[in-house]
Amino acid sequence: MLYGADYNPEQWPEHVWDEDVERMREASVTTVSLGIFSWSRLQPTPTTWDFDWLDRVIGKLHEAGIGVNLATATASPPPWMSVEHPDVLAVDENGATYWHGSRQHYSPASPTYRRLAAQLVTKLAERYAHHPAVVMWHVNNEYGCHLPSEYSDAAQTAFRGWLQKRYGGVAELNEAWGTAFWSQRYGQWEEVMPPLKAPYSRNPAQLLDYHRFMSDMWLECYLAERDIIRAAGATQPISTNMMGAFKPGNYQSWAPHIDVITDDCYPDPLDPQRPRNTAFQRDLMRSLKPGTPWLLMEQATDAVNWRRTNVSKQEGQLAAETAQSVGRGADGIFYFQWRQSRAGAEKFHSAMLPHAGTRTRTWQEASALGGQLAALPELPQPKDEDARVALVFDWENWWAIENPDHPTTLDYLSLVREWYGALHRRGVMVDIVPPEQVSDRHHLAIAPFLYLLRDEGAAALTRFVESGGVLCAGPFSDIVDANDRFRLGGFLQQLGPVLGVGLEDFRALPLPSATAIAERAGTAEIESGGDHPSSSDHVELDLTDGSTLRGTHFAEALWADDAEVLATFRTGPSATRPALTRRVHESGGQAWYVGTMPDPAALDAVIGRLLREASVAPVIENLPEGVEVARRGDVVTVINHGPTAATVSIPGTELLTGEEFGSRELAPQEFAFVKSAITS
Ligand code: GAL
Repeated sequence: MLYGADYNPEQWPEHVWDEDVERMREASVTTVSLGIFSWSRLQPTPTTWDFDWLDRVIGKLHEAGIGVNLATATASPPPWMSVEHPDVLAVDENGATYWHGSRQHYSPASPTYRRLAAQLVTKLAERYAHHPAVVMWHVNNEYGCHLPSEYSDAAQTAFRGWLQKRYGGVAELNEAWGTAFWSQRYGQWEEVMPPLKAPYSRNPAQLLDYHRFMSDMWLECYLAERDIIRAAGATQPISTNMMGAFKPGNYQSWAPHIDVITDDCYPDPLDPQRPRNTAFQRDLMRSLKPGTPWLLMEQATDAVNWRRTNVSKQEGQLAAETAQSVGRGADGIFYFQWRQSRAGAEKFHSAMLPHAGTRTRTWQEASALGGQLAALPELPQPKDEDARVALVFDWENWWAIENPDHPTTLDYLSLVREWYGALHRRGVMVDIVPPEQVSDRHHLAIAPFLYLLRDEGAAALTRFVESGGVLCAGPFSDIVDANDRFRLGGFLQQLGPVLGVGLEDFRALPLPSATAIAERAGTAEIESGGDHPSSSDHVELDLTDGSTLRGTHFAEALWADDAEVLATFRTGPSATRPALTRRVHESGGQAWYVGTMPDPAALDAVIGRLLREASVAPVIENLPEGVEVARRGDVVTVINHGPTAATVSIPGTELLTGEEFGSRELAPQEFAFVKSAITS
């Protein structure tokens, strides 16, 4: 188990470094991420280099037995670079330039930026590839953070090149982007631009491709640095730190190129859905490279500096959040940062060693936690059997479904997390994967809001049902192809046959009032007035067993051509039409379709039924409210996130104390790792 933090010694005089190293040992730090923002210190002028200070820091850490996750320092170019080479600078969609004075102001498409970054990385890699202290490489930092998209000349040129590679000729591009619409037809490549500022709705296929392109630009930067490090003979794992469900970076496409997944996670202590949302993020990270551990590369020890209000964590919350990561597959826990900064934009951000010193609760909690993690025996690798449920979450679909001009406004991540929440509450382990990765190691697959469905994804979902799996899809799924165009012949063109349903129309409902008020102030009143059948923000569904459920967002008009109707809309624009259907296949597989977004109670009912049909059991049955469980091989992690004590029973031995766990009352924020014999 690795334990440590970002270490920025360049912010401090050298005499502080000795105290740092001593304190790191006290806190059981094993590894630090070094030099992430040190480019201007390493290369103070275009032609001068200074590695001596880095040699000395690495030497001190090594002597103390502390490993180094060495950063390539390319995330924040020095000021001299913007002055000498303004073509490295990023530009926004209105043509305004981003300057130095903050960080991450470079264009990832700029050939000059890439050349200068390569020069720095080559020097670092040649100098430290074989250094015994270097245990890992930290490429750049949070690619795409702050500047998810940029539109410099370099980006425009690169975008055209990217499109040429994808489509071949302008004619193919016109076809893919549907440019016959609104006279957008291109005659030659020079006319093709990124989606720049425009008077009204921009071409959705162009917007989608720009997301793809930007994500690929960040990945190209990563690959270039990785290749330099490898070419210098480095054998350590190479990674770049991700940010969970970060819309601009298609991590599912990056993951195969990254040796170990590293994640930065900053839960908001005020978020009432924090345990669920952080669990989702950990599972997403674990699912990027199934069967391998990942590292929590950054979390805050306490408050951050960048929210409107930066509240402290509750006592014990840091350890509970750490346990959640470990229980869901992390083999290393790191913080931003080791020592609180004295100056700069992050001086109010917490650190392992706070400005107020070692008497602080933060220091005491973080150093005690280091000791606890060090005492853990080696944990089993996450295993296929740990999670039998696949929840489909797909970046390209995320980009496409949130394009404007749709029947309603959807927050894809929030909606998928609602589905996840119903599984999380029940203590069921979940893989979060694109549709292509649903396979026979899963027993149940849930694919909500899969608006853009690639051919390969549809084939995988169909295969899954045909080989005995239980699939639940919908609503607003299988609508467009990879270029955001309707497939000819109607909707549900790919999954329709397996589901046994057809889709006549979406019948959007007004956004649930809370969302409508928050997101579109002023429109809520209009949306909830009138006697139109769609005037209510929800619909009711009657199940064949006599119970009634509620749905939101859509009340789709479905045809149950070859499917059993499990529920019918009672109210709203599709009253009397099927709301929930199921087609049972010869293989024993089942394909369910739901034509609305079930509300929390309805989700729970639907999930309960799906789990039963797929014979998937939770890690532990009947969890008390607020208690979370996770499985990692034979280790069960249990955490009480709730405000009151809760009793849980797990047969097995507690890893940290060696005692029988049995039945135990857990105080708020208390957790345990239990080596258990239960198999689900
Ligand atoms: C991260 C970043 C760190 C630090 C941290 C503060 O996004 O990688 O360098 O800025 O946020 O929370």
